Amino acid sequence: MDRLQTSARLMIVSDLDHTMVDHHDPENLSLLRFNALWEGYYRHDSLLVFSTGRSPTLYKQLRKEKPMITPDITIMSVGTEITYGTSMVPDDGWVEYLNQKWDKNIVREETRKFPELTLQAETEQRAHKVSFYVEKDKAQAVTKALAEALEKRGLDVKIIYSGGIDLDILPQGAGKGQALAYLHKKFTAEGKLPTNTLVCGDSGNDAELFSIPDVHGVMVKNAQEELLHWHAENAKDNPKIIHATKECAAGIIEAIGYFNLGPNVSPRDVADTLECKMDCMNPGLETVKYFLFYERWLRAEIDRSDLYIANLKANCHPTGIFMHPSGVEILLTDSLSELSKHYGDKQGKKFRVWVDRVSTIQLDSDTWLVKYNKWESLGEERKGCMATAIVSSKGGNGSTLIHAHQTWLEGSEGKDGPSSWIL
Ligand code: GLC
Ligand code: MG
Repeated sequence: MDRLQTSARLMIVSDLDHTMVDHHDPENLSLLRFNALWEGYYRHDSLLVFSTGRSPTLYKQLRKEKPMITPDITIMSVGTEITYGTSMVPDDGWVEYLNQKWDKNIVREETRKFPELTLQAETEQRAHKVSFYVEKDKAQAVTKALAEALEKRGLDVKIIYSGGIDLDILPQGAGKGQALAYLHKKFTAEGKLPTNTLVCGDSGNDAELFSIPDVHGVMVKNAQEELLHWHAENAKDNPKIIHATKECAAGIIEAIGYFNLGPNVSPRDVADTLECKMDCMNPGLETVKYFLFYERWLRAEIDRSDLYIANLKANCHPTGIFMHPSGVEILLTDSLSELSKHYGDKQGKKFRVWVDRVSTIQLDSDTWLVKYNKWESLGEERKGCMATAIVSSKGGNGSTLIHAHQTWLEGSEGKDGPSSWIL
């Protein structure tokens, strides 16, 4: 949370399954488009919050399966667990607050009396969340009876039905909306309330996100009946909430444009990514564009023109060094000659490249240190590295890459993967 010195320009609070992540798209195109937009235009001054029903275990599993970038804040288990940063430091204040009028053992005891309820996997039972499956036609009656039974036992709970199958029981103060309200309060106390907040969801447990004051909201096109129904009953006259015409992450990008929240054209939607010169003022965007070029070159999705390579070489310092994660050291210009030879190597294959956590530090008046993680995937295989690059400006006329250094991310070393790791 300390990453930004001032208010975030935009805070996106997004659900994952069927909102940020489209499980019906094996190519993950809208997710990759969102990633490129975020890293290129928002990462440096905005906040990304993932708010999921998943437990930490299932959340981490999803991160391995899909090309996801890293959020600044992760809200898991339907707003009962809040963590910060890459190391996912838990918010202990939130946990304490949730203990009020909550007793998990009583919930387990009372729910055993309902044969309609099937307990979910043990990983999904959390300190402040007890979860079941229940058929759609039985959900309403069960919810009502359960609420009464638990109230009689002195508990104050919230029962949420999602996806036409999942039933979660949480403390009354928990939930995705309450967790967001808590964050807003925290930011306000620090004088850093984001300028705009956009909430994004598709199912029942996301409904509360849309009732937090002053937020913009997008229900993605594929939103579940229960969320659309909630909206019709509770928020249909709120002009700050839209039902997108596009599915999942494409709907999020649509909402950024609709509400004028900032740039809304993903670099992935721009055909010629090397059209613009390297620009020191926005190294994040240049990094995103460069790796899009790299992906397209290897997939043979752009012309095999030596001009591209020549232009890139012209932007490298003649004695600049590239440290390959394997430890091999070569001239930057030689590494580009190497890339040139691999044109089309990944043609027709499920090969993707994306960058995560792009950040920049200005070292002196015309030198910048750019840091990012880069991932390459080929089908199910993936490999990642942590990279740093030193870039120097050419007096308002583009920039020069002076040095680049990559180190395998944990688990990537020696692992089979997209064998062509070139740059
Ligand atoms: C996720 C969780 C599950 C929960 C559901 C709806 O799928 O894994 O426990 O019931 O979200 O909130
Ligand atoms: Mg969802």
